[in-house]
Amino acid sequence: MVKLNLQLQEINDIVAAAKDAIFAAKQSSILNILRIKYFGKKGVITYRLKELNNISAEQRPVIGKLVNWAKKEITHFIEERERLLAECEINTASQRETLDVSLPGRGENIGGLHPVTRTLKRIECYFQKMGFSITEGPEIEDGVHNFDALNISEYHPARAMHDTFYFNSKLLLRTHTSPVQIRVMEKKKPPLRIITAGRVYRRDSDTTHTPMFHQVEGLMVDEHLSFTDLKGILIDFLKAFFECSLGIRFRPSYFPFTEPSAEVDIKCEICKGEGCCVCSYTGWLEVLGCGMVHPNIFSYVNVDSEKYLGLAFGMGIERLAMLRYGVNDLRLFFDNNLDFLRQFN
Ligand code: PHE
Repeated sequence: MVKLNLQLQEINDIVAAAKDAIFAAKQSSILNILRIKYFGKKGVITYRLKELNNISAEQRPVIGKLVNWAKKEITHFIEERERLLAECEINTASQRETLDVSLPGRGENIGGLHPVTRTLKRIECYFQKMGFSITEGPEIEDGVHNFDALNISEYHPARAMHDTFYFNSKLLLRTHTSPVQIRVMEKKKPPLRIITAGRVYRRDSDTTHTPMFHQVEGLMVDEHLSFTDLKGILIDFLKAFFECSLGIRFRPSYFPFTEPSAEVDIKCEICKGEGCCVCSYTGWLEVLGCGMVHPNIFSYVNVDSEKYLGLAFGMGIERLAMLRYGVNDLRLFFDNNLDFLRQFN
């Protein structure tokens, strides 16, 4: 009996010591060590369970009950401690990783349209509202469309105005968007109202010229058109484009594919007409060429020049963008300098 009491006391002590050790554990790794100490192969409780076989039949139920109770208690302590430790870990982790939702976001860098594209779209959009439809033509042109059909024959002095990039004797990079006039009239019969925009190429480079630049070309063919219509359309457009009334002047000029022809100058916005390097100290900047379609062009595309009249204009997008945004060097549009480009977003 003494032995039994001693055993009962021992088991009680084991449970009490286990409880202290388990609730003192600060990490789950220590709990694992304790789990092995009590329930491992050579664990304290495992040993007591094995020992039951060596106990007399009459003592076995009593001690067995007690050992099972101890097993249950210790398992419960471990589970309880595990739960507490996990809770603590979550709390400290969330304290460490506090998220300040009131901080401003890091911000996304949203790109924007290039000022040239922006200007081009604005012009297209304006003319679309006026009933012009958007058309496209190839950048690699043939000499026939770029020159011959536009009344610029091989030895015509106007060819010198267009210092051309040639691929071979037939193909070249278009020097202006006017060949699209021919391509359209070859396919469609008047009345016509088209607008086309795109890249053109000339062997030229200084503050107001780049080897590649953009033009917008407009063509209108109808029965009753006059130079007054051309003037009216262009003046209205320029006013809408610049959103203010600028100095505009029509200057008589010469293009082999229009007669009469004119060039339109805008008072230089950079120097307010005083004269600067951008306007070659003239106070004016040429932005477009225009005129009434030459009868020779109509006969090339089989349009009756007795019945129809045409008006055409071609403008330099970069020049217009320079004036609208106050940019003093055309080459800035092609440098891909983000500090410059971001100003237009
Ligand atoms: N194609 C001419 C140029 O590039 C501009 C122009 C277009 C002139 C249409 C008259 C009519 O300079």
